[in-house]
Amino acid sequence: MRLVRVLLLVVASTCLSSILQSQAPPPHLDDPIIEQRITHLLGQMTLEEKVAQTVHFADSSTGPGSAHSDYREQIAQGHVGSFENITGAPETNALQKLAVEKSRLHIPLLFALDVIHGYRTIFPVPLGMASSWDPGLVEQASRIAAKEATSEGIRWTFSPMVDIARDARWGRMVEGAGEDPYLGSAMAVAYVRGYQGARLDDPQSMLACVKHFVGYGAAEAGRDYNSVDISERALRQIYLPPFHAAVEAGGGSVMSAFNSLNGVPATSNRFILTHILREEWGFPGVVISDYGSVAETIAHGIALDGKIAARKAILAGLDVDLEGNVYSRYLAELVRSGAVPESAVDQAARRMLRIKFALGLFDHPYTPAPAASGKPRLDPANVEFARAVAEHSFVLLKNEDSGGSPPLPLSPDVRTIALIGPLADSASDMLGPWRARGDAADVVTLRTALTSRLQQSGGKVIYAKGTEILTAEGNLFAEAVAAAKQADVVIMALGEDALWMSAEAASRAHLGLPGNQQQLLEAVAATGKPVVLIVFSGRPLILTWAASHLPAILQAWFPGMQAGPALVRTLFGDVSPSAKLTVSIPRSVGQEPLYYNELNTGRPADGIDLTRPPRNDVEKYHSRYVDEPNAPLFPFGYGLSYTKFTYSPLELSASQVSASGLNQKTAHPLHVSTTVRNAGPRPGEEVVELYLRIRGTSVALPVKQLEGFRKLTLAPGESKRVEFTLGRDELAFWNIDMQLLVEPASTTVWIGPSSAEGESADFVIAK
Ligand code: BGC
Repeated sequence: MRLVRVLLLVVASTCLSSILQSQAPPPHLDDPIIEQRITHLLGQMTLEEKVAQTVHFADSSTGPGSAHSDYREQIAQGHVGSFENITGAPETNALQKLAVEKSRLHIPLLFALDVIHGYRTIFPVPLGMASSWDPGLVEQASRIAAKEATSEGIRWTFSPMVDIARDARWGRMVEGAGEDPYLGSAMAVAYVRGYQGARLDDPQSMLACVKHFVGYGAAEAGRDYNSVDISERALRQIYLPPFHAAVEAGGGSVMSAFNSLNGVPATSNRFILTHILREEWGFPGVVISDYGSVAETIAHGIALDGKIAARKAILAGLDVDLEGNVYSRYLAELVRSGAVPESAVDQAARRMLRIKFALGLFDHPYTPAPAASGKPRLDPANVEFARAVAEHSFVLLKNEDSGGSPPLPLSPDVRTIALIGPLADSASDMLGPWRARGDAADVVTLRTALTSRLQQSGGKVIYAKGTEILTAEGNLFAEAVAAAKQADVVIMALGEDALWMSAEAASRAHLGLPGNQQQLLEAVAATGKPVVLIVFSGRPLILTWAASHLPAILQAWFPGMQAGPALVRTLFGDVSPSAKLTVSIPRSVGQEPLYYNELNTGRPADGIDLTRPPRNDVEKYHSRYVDEPNAPLFPFGYGLSYTKFTYSPLELSASQVSASGLNQKTAHPLHVSTTVRNAGPRPGEEVVELYLRIRGTSVALPVKQLEGFRKLTLAPGESKRVEFTLGRDELAFWNIDMQLLVEPASTTVWIGPSSAEGESADFVIAK
């Protein structure tokens, strides 16, 4: 508990510029001594040994008859640079021994894994963690993941995924921080700091891999792996910032995306891999392909065979081939034939060796063996922290106060609760997708935690599964309805299947509750009992019916191993929900892609009642739907608490700021402040959000853009003044000449509790 309190204090003073500039310097990949050692080593290496550093195996393809059934032999001969999906100190050490003792130059292997939201201790999925708006919590969770993973030999994680996701049909939305580049950048930095720690050569530090570079979240129609066509401005304004922030924070590796970007597969896209990443940003680390994506450029249609695929990728600046198996086959031959200069292979090998040296692998290749065999033991402090993180990830979407008291928090005197739904007792789903060495046996479900809570208070829980998650089979409605009828209050645990419907290759064309869960919900609600809906999902679902028929909805995402205790403490008000949406929740699928920071268009539908079809031409000829409002059901940045917060009118330090002064760094920035008060009866945390609209510029800018946030902890009646800085970082954008500059403009600033509310003030950006 003490740990959590300390973190919250730190977080209260968090803003992006301080996140990017504060604390210890990032671990450096430009140590001259390391460069000398690499030069010396490269001088001894054969062409094949250099190529080996560009070769990455995944153990899933090591079975008999597979491409790597002889992988031990290949490691011993020094043909492999890195390896993924092997866990455990004895297992990684055994392979490392082959590399270090048998291969000619004794170059260590680097072991990787997708450690996405915890390794042994499983935290909420990344979308849930982002909903905390608390980079401090994310950094701490990532540090715990690094400590656990490195104890099993893993020094490289393929995380964070920093893809901006504006389309809820895309299953991988769950793996990132949502739709906004500013929040996404803050979270990207937090993950990098947590994984990499103060020094990469700390044996408990793990190299981050920032993925998927770039534009993957803009997959057309939300269909995974689909093509992406976006303007360079959108790329720079929306999709690149979290990558840039992560690289600036010292993120040591980047993974290229599966998608094609403006016609060129990201994996062999020289514009992004070399021009932006190396020449503009000076990135010194490694770029690895996504799984098999170098060879997939054949299917994309830009290579006729593996040899051409390898040539195009290495020349574009792609260093390591993850299981595409074309670098291992063709790179040496391509160099010998003159199709690829040896310097390209030298450079890729140098980058891989650079991260191995920086991680200290040459000096300490092995992981100390654990005292006991089997999975590493869970640390109770980490488990408790996972519960705290989960509590900070739940977004209270509705808690209707219709005259009496709202349904949440539940009364401590509640006698009988009906707990209904296929997610109420599904330990595995609570872990979400990508669970590393997490174990469903360690999960405490909502059913278990709620039953034990009610036992203590002399009440009881009547549990009914009601239906399966995905299928209408096992229709158990009658039992569920009977349970509801006996209860004082009903809690329904509904949502998605974590593995089938969430993460990679899990795009959905329908975003309703799957199977017949909607029918179950309606059947139970028809009993007239108060229903609290808890939604478990990796993306926003369509909750339009629920929002108009039920008194309370809590969005729980996939909360991790402490799902049950965190939910029960929230339901009973031991803690108040404090998370806010980082993705817009649509009313219907047809609104997707849906995001708050849209452009205004020439025909915005301002002032028109969009809840009914247009009645005349004046209502019709606007950027709108004839059969659905434009607005989301719940907007970005939104989330309720058990208490209430008020915001005072904004105070600006000046009504004008100079564009040229800010561009030349001679002008002082503006300051804008408000006082936030906890006007309710309970302690609570509030995410205070700052948005800007800039008009009169050379290119159209969003109707609102997040440019700052703070998380405050306030006792009942307590007030805190919050001040934000508005300077070059907040006011510059990629202008008509594709330069990142501040332009003269008219500006509105809002500070408030969501993207749809807030106090506002105007100021001018003069010449
Ligand atoms: C995913 C990546 C992941 C990789 C690991 C791919 O299928 O797209 O996100 O890191 O597998 O091999």
